[in-house]
Amino acid sequence: MTYVTDSLTVRDNRTGQEYDVPITDGTIRAGDIGQIKVADDEPGLAVYDPGFLNTASCRSAITFIDGDKGILEYRGYPIEQLAENSTFLEVAYLLVHGSLPTKDEYDQWVHNITYHTFVHENVKSFMEGFRYDAHPMGMLMASVGALSTFYPESRNISAADNRAIQVIRMIAKMPTLGAFSFRHAQGKPYVYPDNELSYAANFLSMLFKMSEMKYEPDERLVKALDTLFILHADHEQNASTNAVRAVGSTQVDPYSAVSAGIGALFGPLHGGANEAVLRMLRRIGNVSEIPAFIEGVKNGNEKLMGFGHRVYKNYDPRARIIKKAADDVFDVTGVNPLLAVALELEKIALNDEYFVKRRLYPNVDFYSGLIYEALQFPPEFFTVLFAIGRTPGWLAQWLELVQDKEQKIARPKQIYTGDRTLDFTPAEERWA
Ligand code: CMC
Repeated sequence: MTYVTDSLTVRDNRTGQEYDVPITDGTIRAGDIGQIKVADDEPGLAVYDPGFLNTASCRSAITFIDGDKGILEYRGYPIEQLAENSTFLEVAYLLVHGSLPTKDEYDQWVHNITYHTFVHENVKSFMEGFRYDAHPMGMLMASVGALSTFYPESRNISAADNRAIQVIRMIAKMPTLGAFSFRHAQGKPYVYPDNELSYAANFLSMLFKMSEMKYEPDERLVKALDTLFILHADHEQNASTNAVRAVGSTQVDPYSAVSAGIGALFGPLHGGANEAVLRMLRRIGNVSEIPAFIEGVKNGNEKLMGFGHRVYKNYDPRARIIKKAADDVFDVTGVNPLLAVALELEKIALNDEYFVKRRLYPNVDFYSGLIYEALQFPPEFFTVLFAIGRTPGWLAQWLELVQDKEQKIARPKQIYTGDRTLDFTPAEERWA
């Protein structure tokens, strides 16, 4: 047998046969493993990987993460530089188009997004139909899915100009839908977009405007919210992006695919963690209660929410930036009293063998909830903020997917563990 240099030689001890499996980009193709068989009429060898711990599902040029070093880059640009010097809409352009905009491109992009912020009045009526206590993530998921019925042409995913307009619409309308869900819970009238305001300022206006002619948010809060959106804008193949890609791989319209992503983000192990962190901090309540709480975590009673990450085995770079943004927000709003609990919790956990051994560090959700609370958002609204930030990332990933010739409908294998070939007895005989 002649060996390829970058390859894996596999010897199947069932047959004694050797296989040369090429290695490309540090991966082997599961399809190559599938050629390893005991007999021609037997299924090939498969890979079992619940939760995709070690399986690449795509090739992507959007976001790079080095979890050991705590590095995050969008299209090659470090998150720290983007958070410091860019705007959310510029970052959205970068993610969607692959490179930074020229001045004309940027102005056109901002104009397009600003002028698509309104939703059809029937979308508003649809949202008004929810129960008074509906969770805003359920309302967001349903209303984004509903947009597919307002834009039926979005099903034509093979036309580039059609894809482009849906991307603009979704980035533009997400804050409007999010704000409507917020006002709904408060029994307040929905506020229409104000096209004279920036993306984040308009969002704050739709959330908090009452009878004043014009809502004028504090610029420091606008900046903090814009930064939070940047930090959440993409995170490569996380659970919700994987949901967008899996659903998008059926060639459905992008509203349906993103709606699936919002569902995945809702879960407490993913975007819902920011809500869970705040509830946890409130429950702990006081620094003196932390040791007992940590003991409970170590005994497996519960998790320390906002800690740990599938990819980061180091401090999440977004958590570091958020910690700083929190100080800027607290300058305006006053310090959130739960900050002291969070800081002490972090200190104790980072020095505790349980967390050190498992390489558990604060993630993006550990401090974001404290800022959101200081901005007067109720915990159930936190994940909506995450979803608005993540929308350009989901769409960039969806665009990449639909143009990737290698992609196929997402359809994993299973290891079947149930019964076989049972004989069915009709109910009247079984129950006689
Ligand atoms: N508190 C206590 N123990 C933990 C935690 C935690 N937050 N996270 C992981 N562990 C333990 C876990 O029990 C396991 O221990 P053992 O080896 O003894 O069984 C070990 O650490 C490895 O954890 P894992 O669950 O196998 O890791 P995973 O990669 O499957 O899960 C995670 C990653 C983020 C779901 C998990 O760390 C977690 O549940 N964290 C809390 C929820 C959270 O903060 N999620 C937000 C993630 S970042 C933003 C986002 O993605 O939306």
